Amino acid sequence: MASIGSASSLFLVLLASFSSFSLAAKVIVGDSNHWQFGFNYTDWALKKAPFYQHDSLVFMYEAPSNTTPPHSVYLLKNLKSFLGCDLKGAKLVGNVVQGGGPGFEFVLKKRKPHYFACGEHGGVHCSLGLMKFPVFPIRSYCHG
Ligand SMILES: *[C@@H]1O[C@H](CO)[C@@H](O)[C@H](O)[C@H]1NC(C)=O
Repeated sequence: MASIGSASSLFLVLLASFSSFSLAAKVIVGDSNHWQFGFNYTDWALKKAPFYQHDSLVFMYEAPSNTTPPHSVYLLKNLKSFLGCDLKGAKLVGNVVQGGGPGFEFVLKKRKPHYFACGEHGGVHCSLGLMKFPVFPIRSYCHG
């Protein structure tokens, strides 16, 4: 039954291509710069786009010490808070120790604008330190 054989191998090829397509990406924020003061994350995010729904962002930063300033990750409320580095109503997603070692992952579950920022020093790491970036996850065709 050659026809069934080729039909099922075609099915396997399709399945294989769909499953490789469905692998959600893990993106290290800042690439080798990780999460640090002074790197332009808005620029990084613009160049890295598009981000897909179900992709995860990996934040890596050392726990604070005598030589390392503290960093953290917040989701800011809206575009206005993003532009002004306003932490009012922001949601903590990673505290000052959570970025240690392999860091932590934030899964982009929703197709809505996400505004990430470092919350340390009252927003100075966000404003002067450029530790902020917007992400607009788009639909990934495999997850619907
Ligand atoms: C950071 O990058 C953005 C996007 O490329 C750019 O508009 C902005 O001027 C940059 N900021 C600084 C301080 O270089």
